Amino acid sequence: MKISWESPSNIALIKYWGKKDIQLPSNPSISFTLSECKTTTEVHFSKGRGVNITLDGLDKPEFIPKIESYLERIIHRHPWLSSYNLQIKTSNSFPHSSGIASSASGMSALSLCIVDFAQKLNFKFDALNFYQEASILSRLGSGSASRSIYGGIAVWGNSPSLKGSNDEYAIKYPGLINPIFEDYHDVVLLVDVGEKSVTSTIGHALMNNHPFGKQRFSQAHKHLNEIQEILKTGDIENFIRLTELEALTLHGLMMSSSPNYILMKPNTLKIIEEIREFRSESELPLSFTLDAGANVHVLFPGSAKKKAMEFINSNLIQYCKENRFILDQVGSGPKRLTNFVK
Ligand code: PMV
Repeated sequence: MKISWESPSNIALIKYWGKKDIQLPSNPSISFTLSECKTTTEVHFSKGRGVNITLDGLDKPEFIPKIESYLERIIHRHPWLSSYNLQIKTSNSFPHSSGIASSASGMSALSLCIVDFAQKLNFKFDALNFYQEASILSRLGSGSASRSIYGGIAVWGNSPSLKGSNDEYAIKYPGLINPIFEDYHDVVLLVDVGEKSVTSTIGHALMNNHPFGKQRFSQAHKHLNEIQEILKTGDIENFIRLTELEALTLHGLMMSSSPNYILMKPNTLKIIEEIREFRSESELPLSFTLDAGANVHVLFPGSAKKKAMEFINSNLIQYCKENRFILDQVGSGPKRLTNFVK
């Protein structure tokens, strides 16, 4: 019995950084779901017990411990898993060595397969619906994966300003969205494609005793309030101000953790400077955001695409490893690829 899903990555505009209990966020976050950066996963469920996994057709025994600890984390919600063997075949649309985290797309694709199969078994899960349950399981695999379950814009983490928002699962952003944000582009500039010196798991943990932790968590709440007005009115100027502040705050938190660390590289800063200079000269609404790494996400609306791409090709690709970048945009969310095959 095989089930297959394709699920995208996402890029946070207001960042989740810091967690408590079992994968619950210290503050709410909001993201664009991407379209091109995605994982395709097929799971063959058979009676028995155990896991094996291939990536692009190659056995990956080194991934098994991570999958097993994820399964341990979700088994209380899905006890049927204890009598099934999972043969997982997975592949990413983005190059393996791109430095792009595959955890959001990978964990959401796997979780969707599991919830889909549970539904076929007529298993009654605890959440209200299929997507909520898939988002909870994704969260238990990797926090940001909880948001990849929905197309467009997704919110994870409780905010009094957003009805239905929740620490346990993400929701599709329920507010009004100006059409400009439905056609937003994200060019991921691959500055550094190696392993990160400090993982996100360690980074989140360092937020527990962070000297600015409390202020940061309340700032994120304030930013989530602010972005709702921006998304509604299409106020690009404030979108740029707020999302760049979020990106640099994330890295500022890393630089002020104990121990402190820096994930940006010299080329990350060069790109940021070029973007800011180009923006002030051209008045084109081009901006950047960062995730927990050295790569830069260049954001712009569809209307600026031609000029933005010219600028990226002429000025920015020199800072990328082997001139590599990924052209992406806001996408419509995960897709089921197969019907239930027995
Ligand atoms: O999902 P994790 O544990 O890999 O954390 C991701 C954290 C950021 O990408 C930096 C921010 C976010 O909200 O996605």
